[in-house]
Amino acid sequence: MAEAVIQSKSNVDFQRIREQFPVLSQQIKGQTLVYLDNAASSQMPSRVADRIDAYQRNEHANVHRGIHTLSQKATDAYELTRKKVQRFINAGHKEEIIYTTGTTDSINLVANSFGDRFIGEGDKILISEVEHHANIVPWQMVAERKGAKINVIPVDDHGDIIWDKYVELLTDNTAIVAVGHVSNALGTVHPVKKMISEAHKRDIPVMVDGAQAVPHTPVDVQDLDADFYAFSAHKMCGPTGFGILYGKKKYLNEMPPYRGGGDMIDKVSFEETTYNITPYKFEAGTPPIAAGIGFGETISFLEEIGMPNIAEQERELLEYGTQKLNAVEGIRIIGTAKEKASVLSFVHEDIHATDIGTILDQQGIAIRTGHHCAQPTMRRFNVPATARASLSFYNNKEDIDRLIKGIKKAISIFQ
Ligand code: ALA
Repeated sequence: MAEAVIQSKSNVDFQRIREQFPVLSQQIKGQTLVYLDNAASSQMPSRVADRIDAYQRNEHANVHRGIHTLSQKATDAYELTRKKVQRFINAGHKEEIIYTTGTTDSINLVANSFGDRFIGEGDKILISEVEHHANIVPWQMVAERKGAKINVIPVDDHGDIIWDKYVELLTDNTAIVAVGHVSNALGTVHPVKKMISEAHKRDIPVMVDGAQAVPHTPVDVQDLDADFYAFSAHKMCGPTGFGILYGKKKYLNEMPPYRGGGDMIDKVSFEETTYNITPYKFEAGTPPIAAGIGFGETISFLEEIGMPNIAEQERELLEYGTQKLNAVEGIRIIGTAKEKASVLSFVHEDIHATDIGTILDQQGIAIRTGHHCAQPTMRRFNVPATARASLSFYNNKEDIDRLIKGIKKAISIFQ
């Protein structure tokens, strides 16, 4: 595996990087696309698409099964991604990297498998008030099955969790804390390292939903001391249908399999089945091999730019966008936390978010509008929906200028 070339931000040519995303040069409604829906799904650079294409055309075979050369080559390429992911998030062991179909699947795996083994009647599952539905509903399902309860950490009017309330809610019968690293609807960066350390004082494990963090900032799971950490390939310039669950071996070894099928077994008979070791015991059936190999290429791409450089580039764009948006009359930003990443969620005093999104689309500008799969967050901020522009490192200030111009046009149409 080639070592990543780390460069400083001043040496990174973000314009040249942008050119590696062919989708961004297309015309939508007669104008060059401005893509600001990266929190939903980010775009893929050519080299990742090319890697997937090369695999499908010339290298495809099933993995972990074949004695033949092609199968072994596919297995090596697929397993290489595990090593790359291990390095990318600084996991201690590659056995702690489980392939899933995405963050939702990763969280369901923890909720079901950890839940089966470690959550009992009367236990509490602690989540925050601003979680994505994927980090609410799986826990509600396991709580119902096990007779456990969901407790909710409140947030203040900026979208920051209220620390004292969090500490109060950590009690002897808290089975797990499950919290987003970055809120998809607000952009709040939660103080997960501090939260984990506080939970660990009481031996409570913490699962972090990192779907909106890993694409935007360096993540070191050992430094965080996270017990579980989930994320998706498609939000970080990789393919859809592929994701990661990092889990500490001490939990994974104790947890039962989540799905049954091929690859996850050791021996099968009608009387008894024994299971494979981790991570394979959690990976039943033929996996999305092409996506897995493509994700390996994605990680190399991101490492070559350097995650600290990506974080800095997006921080500058977010600051620029926040200033510009705050200056538009009638616009209010929802989510003004002390630390934010890549999300500009906003409402207009008179115009519905959907109408803003529709007018922007007519100008070739893609944002997301609605509840962002976070209905409780909308309720907390007393809004039915927001318009959300979400950034990636391939965006630039011109994209933000087009967004602001587009919003002003929407306002002029509706007023
Ligand atoms: N979770 C994705 C979003 O925030 C789909 O848009």
